Amino acid sequence: MRNRMIAGNWKMNKTYTEGVQLAQDLAEALSDGTGNVDVVVCPPTVDLKGVSTVIDQQSAPFALGAQNVYWEESGAYTGETAPNMLEAVGATYCIIGHSERRDYFHETDEDVNKKAKTLMSHNIVPISCCGEPLEIREAGTHVAYVVDQIKKDTEGLEISDPAKYVVAYEPIWAIGTGKTATADDAQEVCGAIRATLAEIFGQETADGIRILYGGSAKPENVAGFLEKEDVDGALVGGASLKADSFSAMVKAAM
Ligand code: 13P
Repeated sequence: MRNRMIAGNWKMNKTYTEGVQLAQDLAEALSDGTGNVDVVVCPPTVDLKGVSTVIDQQSAPFALGAQNVYWEESGAYTGETAPNMLEAVGATYCIIGHSERRDYFHETDEDVNKKAKTLMSHNIVPISCCGEPLEIREAGTHVAYVVDQIKKDTEGLEISDPAKYVVAYEPIWAIGTGKTATADDAQEVCGAIRATLAEIFGQETADGIRILYGGSAKPENVAGFLEKEDVDGALVGGASLKADSFSAMVKAAM
C-alpha cells in the first residue's frame, strides 16, 4: 500500500529566520506524529540548512525537500545547486518540473528527465510535476497532454523502489488562483498517470508510486481529493506557509 504524502512547496517565500520559525512551529504542531502520512517541506534553497537543523534538533516528523536542482555534479554553472549539495544539507526530496519553472525559466521535459536521473543517482526522491494550462483544459485534451509529459519526464528512468519516485499533478489554472480542480477532475488525470506509469514500469511499480494533487489545495478540500483512488496526497503552496493550515492538512490525511 502507498503511504499518503503531504508536501509543502514554500516557493519564493520565507527568509532564513522566517523559515526556521515556520519549521519550528510545524514541528510543534505535529509533535504527536503523522501516522502513516509522509510529510515533506520544501523551503527556498538558502533556508534548507536552517530547516534541516530544526528537523534534527526537534526530531520533527517531516522530511526536507528542495525546489530545484541542476543535473551536473559541480562546475561553472553560476546560480545553480548540485545534487550532492542538497544531499549534504539533508534534503531527501526535490521538486522538479514545477509549472512556474517551466513557464518562467523555460524548463523542458528533457531537463526534468535529466534532473530526475541525477536526483535518483543521489538517492534523493524526485517530486516530478506535470499539469496542463487552461487552454489545453478548455480544448479537452488535458489527459493526452499530461500523459505525454509523463512519458517524456520518465524516459529511461529505472525505478527499483516505487516509494522513491513521486508525481505531482498540478493543473496550472488551479495554482494560486483559488480555483481548484474537482476531486473527479483530479482522479481523471491521476488515473491516467498511473495507467501510463503501469505501461512504462509495470503495474506493481505503478501501484507503489505516489501521485499528488496540487492547486489551491487547503484544509477544507484536501479530504475530498484523498478519497479518490489514484490521489495519494497533496503538493501544497499557499496553505503550507502557515503551521496551522499545513498541519491541519496532514491531520486530514491521517
Ligand atoms: P497553491 O496551493 O498556492 O495553489 O500552489 C500549488 C503549487 O503550485 C504547489 O507546488
